[in-house]
Amino acid sequence: GDDILSLAHEWDIDLEGACEGSIACSTCHVILQPNVYDVLPEPSDDENDMLDLAFGLTDTSRLGCQVL
Ligand code: FES
Repeated sequence: GDDILSLAHEWDIDLEGACEGSIACSTCHVILQPNVYDVLPEPSDDENDMLDLAFGLTDTSRLGCQVL
C-alpha cells in the first residue's frame, strides 16, 4: 500500500506495525507536522479509539497505517 507504514518499511525506517494495518494496535503511531495533519481526511472513529491508547499522543498524532 501507499500508507505511511508501508512507505516507512520500504525505506527501512523503523516504524512498528504490529497488527499490519487492521487498527488493532497503536505501534504505528506517528506525529505529523501540523501542515501535513491539516490536509488529511479526518481519522475514523476506530482510529481515534486506538489513538487514545497511543503513548505520547499529540494533537497531530495519527496511526501511520491509516494515513494515505
Ligand atoms: Fe496496527 Fe497501524 S499497524 S494500527
